[in-house]
Amino acid sequence: MAKLPYHINGKLHVSGSSRFIGDEAPLSGMLYAKFFFSPVAHARILSLNHSRAKIFPGVHAVLCAQDVPGENMIGHVIKDEPLFPESKIMYQHQPLAMVLAEDESIAEAAVGLIGLEYEELPPILEITEADERGEWYIPERKIERGDVKGAFKDCAHILEGSSFSGGQEHFYMESQRVRAIPVDHDLIHLLCATQSTMEVQEVASHVLGIPAHRIAVEVPRLGGAFGGKERAATIWGVMAALGAYLTRRPVQIILSRDEDMRATGKRHPFLSNWKIGCDAQGKIRAWDIELMCNGGAYADLSVAILERAMFHADNIYHIPNARIRGRACRTNLPPNTAFRGFGGPQGIFVIESAIEKIARILGKDPLEIRKINAYQNGDIAPYGQIIKDSGATKTLDLVAKNADYQNSLSEIRKFNKENRILKQGMGIMPVKFGISFTTAFLNQGSALIWIYIDGSVSVSTGGVEMGQELNSKVAIVVAKVLGIPFERIRVESSHTQRTGNASPTAASTGSDINGNAARIAAEKLRANLEPIAAKMLAEQGNSPDARVIFENGMVYCAGTEQPKLSFTQVVVRAHQERVALGAYGYYATPDLWFDRELGEGRPFYYYVYGAAIARVELNTLSGEHRIISTHIVHENGKSLHQEIDMGQVTGAFVQGMGWCTMEEVVADNKGRYLSANPSTYKIPGIRDIPEKLDIQLVESDSSEASVFGSKATGEPPLIYGMAVFFALQDAIRSVKPEAELRFPATPEALISALQ
Ligand code: MTE
Ligand code: HPA
Ligand code: MOS
Repeated sequence: MAKLPYHINGKLHVSGSSRFIGDEAPLSGMLYAKFFFSPVAHARILSLNHSRAKIFPGVHAVLCAQDVPGENMIGHVIKDEPLFPESKIMYQHQPLAMVLAEDESIAEAAVGLIGLEYEELPPILEITEADERGEWYIPERKIERGDVKGAFKDCAHILEGSSFSGGQEHFYMESQRVRAIPVDHDLIHLLCATQSTMEVQEVASHVLGIPAHRIAVEVPRLGGAFGGKERAATIWGVMAALGAYLTRRPVQIILSRDEDMRATGKRHPFLSNWKIGCDAQGKIRAWDIELMCNGGAYADLSVAILERAMFHADNIYHIPNARIRGRACRTNLPPNTAFRGFGGPQGIFVIESAIEKIARILGKDPLEIRKINAYQNGDIAPYGQIIKDSGATKTLDLVAKNADYQNSLSEIRKFNKENRILKQGMGIMPVKFGISFTTAFLNQGSALIWIYIDGSVSVSTGGVEMGQELNSKVAIVVAKVLGIPFERIRVESSHTQRTGNASPTAASTGSDINGNAARIAAEKLRANLEPIAAKMLAEQGNSPDARVIFENGMVYCAGTEQPKLSFTQVVVRAHQERVALGAYGYYATPDLWFDRELGEGRPFYYYVYGAAIARVELNTLSGEHRIISTHIVHENGKSLHQEIDMGQVTGAFVQGMGWCTMEEVVADNKGRYLSANPSTYKIPGIRDIPEKLDIQLVESDSSEASVFGSKATGEPPLIYGMAVFFALQDAIRSVKPEAELRFPATPEALISALQ
């Protein structure tokens, strides 16, 4: 294939001409929404008085629970979350009323006139407290394999511990936003910054009490999402739909950074208690782990996130006897939600903490401990999936070679002997990440393709472009099937009227699902065009039986030298001969199942493997550190686009590194987030990228892969960031072998671990 342009949106982004929701000119009559947010985390509502706000000049309407025409419910899988609470406030900054006014400042002023009387209740903020009180959305989940109790009896070493990993703010550049436009009297068009057009449509239809076909949801593109718009966007989309429905005017909601950070959920903090048993060499025999997550006020996606954490509690290690239990705990924080990795990183953090402890207690090389336990083909995961095409050992070996592991170890030992204040350390982070929605029915997608008679092509899928360049990947797939240049293809917005019932663009499955649906649609079109092309080529004197090739916008018979027929000529003829130039493609990922009662099944279509090694230098007086180098080896099948995948790996690594070294979500003891903008929440910047960041994508020829042999890249590489955490812990332990480093490894945490 010809060299690919960087990506489909490249020119637009670089020239500042790509349009995001809210960039469009204001519409006439448009109303701007501002919210009255709850000042407390947990309370009974006695009264909510908005009579003064309602008559404020320029205010058009003030809406609250009483104004909902349909069902006041946005809970989806578990029906526990109202659009506006009626009697009970469940978290700080929960929206209690929406003011719609001629402009934002009027709306904001009117919000100040709303009165709330309430009876405050004690909030539950911590996992342990919620767990002790049995505040779970559903009863405990369990996955069990082998004989855990029995296996511990035969172990040479049994170690116990508890591990905590913290929250993380998504910090997408584009805050939550939506514009709702009444079209005909029977249609509302929502331009909504969501990863899930179907969910916004479905929930809005329940809340408004109208059929789904009266709500069209469209996403041109997102300015980043990272899971924060998979479910957390729904509330704002539905609010705007409600406003437009009741006022018959366009309504726009754009949250400020502070509002967004205070009112929306984040990555789930996890607390885990564990016990691990191994033989004298460090080969793991038994693993007993209990995972608990802080789910916030409503279930949201917490149960699925807990489940993915449980599925990743083995990481790359084959453990014959395992018991994995999980409880998703309800607290009075904004509902925590999907975040790149979706519980996977949290599950992996625990087993990696345990592996580190095994290596330390046995006095062995942590790389060696990892290697002797790594999955081999034919091993069975605790939930029953048979491991095929394991890339665990291969990627660990390769990253160790790239990082010159043994020499680096000796250099670090020497450095630490010679330096009193500066200490170096090294951390290893292998990854096995399961690809597929663990909710099996979500693994389906649709695409719609039109070939216009000038030979240009329009492709719609249910997939949402959020910076991961899904659109480029879809275009690459279609270009390949139709044999036309990439530039001839336009990938359209995601729109429920063109692609209905779309699963969220999430679980890293975007290009697998939508790419395959587009491939299937394109293959249908090619099948329509082939007989026409064969006929036209025969008219030019070619053999009617020759194989027809579509390539680079030209069509010719295999073996002929100079093609004389263009793709466009074939398309024009097909139209004249009344052959369909539009097609619909549908794809459902095969062979997926999981029985929640048994804790057994095949939840993943395939796995992505990789490994990272980070080397750091810590100043033990100031707690500051620098990352000297990071090496990453990432196995991803046959990449659809190397540069895009490199971008995903780089960005995800930095995001993961930020999570475990500098991003600290702080709430006060009343459940109010104190981290509310970049001055109170530190995300990595360009200077935090390691001085040496060496990423190698390894092609693999796996029977378990997706469209054209490619594998997903969106989420798994975030986990490599934790290599930096373990490198810092290693540096600390060169001074104080027993030290426990708390999460995230901020300068304060590093200093306090040394004390
Ligand atoms: N990359 C960018 N630039 N922006 C994003 O919001 N989201 C991540 C990942 N990469 C994200 C991103 C998450 S959480 C997921 S699940 C995948 O992209 C979704 O896209 P895909 O399935 O097409 O990979
Ligand atoms: N990943 C992301 N989103 C999801 C999943 C998942 O496994 N299941 C349901 N929503
Ligand atoms: Mo990604 S957390 O699955 O949106």
